[in-house]
Amino acid sequence: MRISVIGVGYLGAVHAAAMAELGHDVIGLDVDAARVVSLQAGRAPFHEPDFEEILQRGLEAGRLRFTTDYAELADAEVHFLGLGTPQRADGFGADLTYLEAAVTSLAGVIATRGGAPTLVVGKSTVPAGTARTLAGRLAHLPGTDLMWNPEFLREGFAVKDTLTPDRLVYGVAEPGAASADAQVALLDAVYAPLLAAGTPRLVMGLETAELVKVSANAFLATKISFINAIAEICEALGGDVTEVAAAIGMDDRIGRKFLRAGVGFGGGCLPKDIRAFIASAEDAGVGEALGFLREVDAVNQRRRQRVVELAREMLGDLRGRRITVLGAAFKPDSDDVRDSPALEVTARLMSAGAHVTVTDPAALANAARRVPGLHGEPDTDAALAGAELVVLLTEWREYRDFDPVRTRARVAAPRMIDGRTVLDPVAWRDAGWELRSLGRGE
Ligand code: UGA
Repeated sequence: MRISVIGVGYLGAVHAAAMAELGHDVIGLDVDAARVVSLQAGRAPFHEPDFEEILQRGLEAGRLRFTTDYAELADAEVHFLGLGTPQRADGFGADLTYLEAAVTSLAGVIATRGGAPTLVVGKSTVPAGTARTLAGRLAHLPGTDLMWNPEFLREGFAVKDTLTPDRLVYGVAEPGAASADAQVALLDAVYAPLLAAGTPRLVMGLETAELVKVSANAFLATKISFINAIAEICEALGGDVTEVAAAIGMDDRIGRKFLRAGVGFGGGCLPKDIRAFIASAEDAGVGEALGFLREVDAVNQRRRQRVVELAREMLGDLRGRRITVLGAAFKPDSDDVRDSPALEVTARLMSAGAHVTVTDPAALANAARRVPGLHGEPDTDAALAGAELVVLLTEWREYRDFDPVRTRARVAAPRMIDGRTVLDPVAWRDAGWELRSLGRGE
């Protein structure tokens, strides 16, 4: 099938390459010319396992190309919308301007198709109601329908999550109507290999599909803040949150995943999605229903500040003190620093007057762009040299595997804050370290 993907950021680029991998003829469009040039040259503009491989395979097979020109999309029968919906400048709701501009440009292209069947499929995370509004903007185009098909990929597993998803969610304007059957059949043809492999596919209304996505992210954020709230209690009352999480997680109604306590969630999705969800509930007059998500956000913010407080408890006045931060990315195996807890804590330590050195295997270049004056050091040993306090904030494998005895020899003073609760307190204390962990009482 001939497919376009409009907006080839993280989600869109992976989706475009994955659709080519399924055998479709795919064109990806972005207004960012540099990104288009990079993708067309087979270079991934972000760190993502397996992505460059399927990108290059699609390009070499002639099934994948990229453009900045909407006119080149006229042949496509299915258009996926992969545009970003960042947090609005006012700090709460989702900014839909990229999506709206894309639909306006796309409508101009579809108008040239003379009524040939065309399906527009939204993948971006949006407040409920957005899809129906966008469908209204395409209503004058004969033969054109809009569906919403949210994406659940995780960074670091994006290719796997796209090609072997837990489920496919199809939102249609009129579930059960004959018009919906035709749309579903067309999207089924796009995803045929996934469906043949047994991927469950759920058809529902547009608003429900939009809500599935934001509800999933809200639940994940809530799970993390729940365990981080218990972490606060453990610190005060003398418990160990990792043992609580392991024990409650064995109840399969609770489940052990997403119960890792620490400095909290960041990234381009969970923080902004819960805020946008709160804003959309308030707009609908049901803000109270999601009042607890404000607390989820507040717990998450408090964990960041707690690290700074621990640093003060260990060092006193932070002015002029040498602190080494392990990790800048919002999670391991990623170079993404959007709303990264590690970077925010770093910035707070810097503004408290500390001399901070940050190391990270992949995210230092992005980190330097985000935090002016940041001192990044890619070599871990060099970063540790002279440290009076080490703060682990992103649990990269290599930091988790640090040997406490060898590490002690590198620093000026053996003090450690384990901001991801991943180090073995006994081993580190036995090696002479003063260790404080988020979620463990002393
Ligand atoms: C998240 C969701 O997991 C995806 O399902 C969703 O599709 C995606 O957002 C999106 O909306 O696009 P992602 O942002 O890639 O994916 O990252 P996660 O693996 O969910 O991690 C988010 C944050 O939570 C990270 O900062 C991570 O360190 C933190 N986290 C995660 C914890 O602090 N504890 C945990 O137990 C799990």
